[in-house]
Amino acid sequence: MAELFRRTNMCGELRLADEGKAVVLNGWVQKARSLGSLVFIDLRDKTGITQITFNEDAPAELLERAKSLRSEYVVGVKGVVHERSAKNPNLPTGDIEVFATDLVIYSEAETPPIYIKDDDNVDDNLRLKYRYLDLRKLKMQRNLTFRHNVVKVTRDYFNENGFTEVETPILIKPTPEGARDYLVPSRVKNGSFYALPQSPQMFKQLLMVGGTDRYMQIAKCFRDEDLRADRQPEFTQIDLEMSFAGVDDVIEVQEGFLKRLMHDVMGIDVQTPFPRLTYDEAMSRYGSDKPDTRFGIELMDLTETFRDCSFEVFTDAIKDGGAVRAITVPGGAAEFTRKKIDKLTNEVRQYGARGLFWIKFEQEGISSSISKFFTTEELQHILHVCEASVGDVVFMVCGKPKVTFDALGYLRKRTADALGLIDKSKFNFLWVVDFPMFEQDDDGRIKAMHHPFTKPKLEDLDKLDTDMLSIKADAYDIVLNGIELGGGSVRIHDRKLQALMFKALGLTDEECQQKFGFLIEAFKYGAPPHAGLAYGLDRLVMLLLGESSIRETIAFPKNQNAECPVCEAPGPADDEQLKELGIRLADDVE
Ligand code: AMO
Repeated sequence: MAELFRRTNMCGELRLADEGKAVVLNGWVQKARSLGSLVFIDLRDKTGITQITFNEDAPAELLERAKSLRSEYVVGVKGVVHERSAKNPNLPTGDIEVFATDLVIYSEAETPPIYIKDDDNVDDNLRLKYRYLDLRKLKMQRNLTFRHNVVKVTRDYFNENGFTEVETPILIKPTPEGARDYLVPSRVKNGSFYALPQSPQMFKQLLMVGGTDRYMQIAKCFRDEDLRADRQPEFTQIDLEMSFAGVDDVIEVQEGFLKRLMHDVMGIDVQTPFPRLTYDEAMSRYGSDKPDTRFGIELMDLTETFRDCSFEVFTDAIKDGGAVRAITVPGGAAEFTRKKIDKLTNEVRQYGARGLFWIKFEQEGISSSISKFFTTEELQHILHVCEASVGDVVFMVCGKPKVTFDALGYLRKRTADALGLIDKSKFNFLWVVDFPMFEQDDDGRIKAMHHPFTKPKLEDLDKLDTDMLSIKADAYDIVLNGIELGGGSVRIHDRKLQALMFKALGLTDEECQQKFGFLIEAFKYGAPPHAGLAYGLDRLVMLLLGESSIRETIAFPKNQNAECPVCEAPGPADDEQLKELGIRLADDVE
């Protein structure tokens, strides 16, 4: 066994001021180069890289050992810091090198299946399979450390503000968050299942009934849903709940938190209070309940402009209860050639838009996909209504309100991105408040937009029988740069109101009892008014790091098939285990 060198310094921290210092470094060989009687190695640990030089003066035996080094060998080096003659401006340690006086090889390494290089364009699945190698990259170590710092500031801030961190159970009954549950079969009670929590929602409410007053938790959550860049089946929330609190109390505490976080981990002072948009305003101006306000391009409603026009595609949509909406993309006329517009048209089709109509306002004149149906004066009028200037293009979509919002909400981001109009250095936090209480799913079923414990606006309750979809709730989301960071609500703490909401959702007494009986029961014994919120920690870290996927913030994430490529979960269970659990696989399951 090789002797363990006791480390004095990390590889990323040595500077010119350390010149002459005797140091001991441990790490991985990033690169080894032999130049006759000279050997250079780049030694890497999680903090960075230092060049180690074995020069002519070194004992022959040491030089020989150095020559045997290969990439990813794990070594310890003793040496002295020297100023480097050929400085490397790309490395923080580029002004120095360490002249080695001793070397120990702890482990040899085979050629790794992926390069340990930040900008290596390697296949994602390979990266995830060899995640322990991928994690050696400085970028990944920086991400993990950054996430750690976010969690630390979070715990500090909430601790200072009277929150107690409490762990809630992982083996529970299903929570009403609306995604599919991960189920765990019970051995003791064959035929019964635990669900893994989609969030600690009901337990944190029980903690309020239990007098905890202010709760926080860095909580693991599990949702069996389709994966996207900002979704994982297993993710982490910063989960919070406060007693005797309403919307403004929650928002004030959270703005304090985000301000502190931005200051401490990013060195940025953000202005509070953050803008608040109602859900209706967010939809009508940005076509989204999570608007990206780093650029303009707001939606315009042209329904009245076109109500009596002769273009039947528009008038039919309007007669059908739909709308015509538009965006003006500044400077987009030249960029969006017909070919590119065809591509955009295909893209908006996935939101249900039947077509994408456009008017270009160029020096040479006006051109449009609907010029057959409108006179030049009429097109000019539309451009005027849309506040378009020379060089701009106006895009229009007609159809059901949701279709126009979704399609144009997508298009404003897409076109702004293509034209480089998004200022990536901005951090635009905003609140979206007054969400609808209910929404209708594709099958026409009414469900709670947030969850069934959300408090509806009491002044809207008289619409329960006539126009329930217009009832608003004391529910809010915190949005950063067009991504939903977190969401929450004031909860119902009144049993009668809760019963009314369950009824509105079409839940029978039995269903309520079976699903949420314990919470309803708890509310019998004195529940404080309470409200809360949960952030997606992975998303928060992703956005602050400027990453495009939450996988870059998670040490061992799942792949697109919800598999763990490292340990190869999920895997088969052996017959004995299944028998104990009372489970027999269907014949068509291999
Ligand atoms: P909600 O379902 O809105 O609310 O979730 C809160 C936040 O969690 C993050 N999130 C996810 N992150 C990664 N992968 C996922 N699959 C995923 N799903 C959600 C998002 C989201 O904004 N119990 C309520 C909160 C409350 O009312 O207090 C809840 O879970 O950033």
